[in-house]
Amino acid sequence: MNIKIHAQRRKQLMQMMGENSVAILPAASLQIRNRDVEYDFRQDSDFRYLSGFNEPEAIIVLLPGRKQGQFVMFCRQRDKLKETWHGRRFGPEGAIEYFAADEAFVTEEFEERLPAMMGHCEKVYYTMGLRPEFDNLVMKCVNNIRQQSRRGACAPHEFVSLEYLLHDMRLFKSRAEISLMRKAAKISVQAHIAAMRQCKPGMAENALEAEFLYAFKKNGAGWAYPSIVGGGENACILHYTENNQLLQDKTMVLIDAGAEYEGYAADITRTFPVNGRFTAPQREIYELVLQAQEAAIKQVKPGNHWNDPHRAAVKVLTRGMVELGLLKGKVTQLIKEEKYRKYFMHRTGHWLGMDVHDVGDYKVAEKWRLLEPGMVLTVEPGLYIPAGSRGARRWWNIGVRIEDDIVVTRDGNDLLSKGLPRSCEEIETVMAA
Ligand code: GLY
Ligand code: MN
Ligand code: MN
Repeated sequence: MNIKIHAQRRKQLMQMMGENSVAILPAASLQIRNRDVEYDFRQDSDFRYLSGFNEPEAIIVLLPGRKQGQFVMFCRQRDKLKETWHGRRFGPEGAIEYFAADEAFVTEEFEERLPAMMGHCEKVYYTMGLRPEFDNLVMKCVNNIRQQSRRGACAPHEFVSLEYLLHDMRLFKSRAEISLMRKAAKISVQAHIAAMRQCKPGMAENALEAEFLYAFKKNGAGWAYPSIVGGGENACILHYTENNQLLQDKTMVLIDAGAEYEGYAADITRTFPVNGRFTAPQREIYELVLQAQEAAIKQVKPGNHWNDPHRAAVKVLTRGMVELGLLKGKVTQLIKEEKYRKYFMHRTGHWLGMDVHDVGDYKVAEKWRLLEPGMVLTVEPGLYIPAGSRGARRWWNIGVRIEDDIVVTRDGNDLLSKGLPRSCEEIETVMAA
């Protein structure tokens, strides 16, 4: 992403913060996996959103209106030996040259330099409680200023969460962001199609998962969350990630897998028969979930509120479950008492962006948020009928979810996860090819 875009975001954020304030954002840290092996580094989304800088042990400080520079970066020093062993670093020089920092210092100097920088600030925008060690460091700096108050220093007296402003910005995706999300979705769609084509009875869930890892890496992406590949009864475990069973004939497999491309996520689910042909009971459940998804997608348009797609899905699913005999009673009453939750226990979607469950409030002043152009969400109704469900033997061990990624546009919505078979016929055709 172009470095000017990050500058524009910082400018917008600083305008909202106002002068005499400071924002402090630490980068993500490396995490030990075992002994001297670390997990893959993944930058904190807020940090990346504001800087594009992808190293650990870094800190952004924003100081609106400061004459010596508004954007200060602290980062790791360049080090020939360490870079030979562990990889390249930009260093403070690089932070200025390539990331448009006004000033940059090595991270070790943060504690010494911050008090002077924020000496005049009344407000500190900082999200407490995520990293206790860093919280302590920030408090230490503030106390440091307090101790100098007799010499005229003025300690900040207001701490505000940065998320309130920043996450509202992140909720609205620009054109550049949407094109990255389209790419993440496209890579994922191709992988889902490959998985449909490869799938056959006797295959291991792991082997299908491998199709995704391969396609993601090959396309310069990674996974946005660990893939779920659940055959048969495993489809009824919502966050099943063991993926270590064999796929059985005449069962279905549920795959929830999405790529992360340039920091942006896709989140896509398909459920299909392992042998390529739906049985009658599978088709009954599948088509009901599909109808619910279609009804929900129709509700994704400006002016509708966040809960409208969910309401539409719940209505279709509940009515359908009564028709099939999975639920007994009056549809309106079953909805009111949330009886549908026996088989549909999650919501119909969530915001999608840099984080798979992306940031942004779902309610404002206790009212569901209105949908506006640029918001991206998933639409993912499902039905899960574990063995033992009373009066439902015909559908035991069937779990179906259909999940797509959708951007709200000026006149409705646009599917980011285009081109992936959804109807029974489309799925059977792709699997037969
Ligand atoms: N893949 C997580 C979700 O669908 O919300
Ligand atoms: Mn999802
Ligand atoms: Mn998902």
